[in-house]
Amino acid sequence: MSRKALIAANWKMYKTPAEALAFVDAFLPLIAGHTRDEIALFPSVTSLATVVKAVEGSGVIAGLQNMHFAEDGAYTGETSAAMLKAVGATHTLIGHSERRQYFNETDEIVNKKLHTALKHGIVPVVCIGELLHEREAGHTAQVLLTQLKGALAGISAAAAHTLVIAYEPVWAIGTGKTATPEMAVEAHMIIRAELANILGSHVAKATRILYGGSVKPENATALLGEEEIDGALVGGASLKPDSFAAIVHY
Ligand code: 13P
Repeated sequence: MSRKALIAANWKMYKTPAEALAFVDAFLPLIAGHTRDEIALFPSVTSLATVVKAVEGSGVIAGLQNMHFAEDGAYTGETSAAMLKAVGATHTLIGHSERRQYFNETDEIVNKKLHTALKHGIVPVVCIGELLHEREAGHTAQVLLTQLKGALAGISAAAAHTLVIAYEPVWAIGTGKTATPEMAVEAHMIIRAELANILGSHVAKATRILYGGSVKPENATALLGEEEIDGALVGGASLKPDSFAAIVHY
């Protein structure tokens, strides 16, 4: 089964709406007519509506970096699924390591968010990955399995058909240290095998597993050339139109 790659930009806490618009204006001509891969932008919440409008008709996807699991309520500073959809966005990241690290997001919270996203027809990109000391202790597989099982608790195969997983080794995020293609492939195979255990082999074969962690134009070809790597979640190198376009054209 061939999976269409998804090349996604996670802008984190960068870019005002004006800066996001300038990016899209410069970026769209660079990827015009590119149909091999899906392309997604995950701007900050204040730039989301601007980006949705700016990419209209281009085929580029816009999504949120984080979404609350509740339908609504007294959750100061949070954004709901309905709010995401109301501005025309279609995707959300869930459980990024920075959310886990700085905002105490647990596997249980990730699981609740995933249930909410799927219920609302929002495409979820669930991020998992090991810390450096976990890799060095030989615990990578165990960490990935725990995070994956936690995220997918109570999710049916039928509900999971839009699921995307992003493997982001925490030690490779923003550090300039990239997993080698071999390391990424090994992790992706562990993830896919567990997806088959939990959701069945049909879903496991169809689910895209992205790699994230210091993806740059210089290493994109080697990583994305691997059959097991179904796209990239790009931080720093997605902030400039030319470098993100170069990754899209790997
Ligand atoms: P960098 O590409 O800056 O390492 O960030 C990766 C990431 O966290 C994407 O979600």
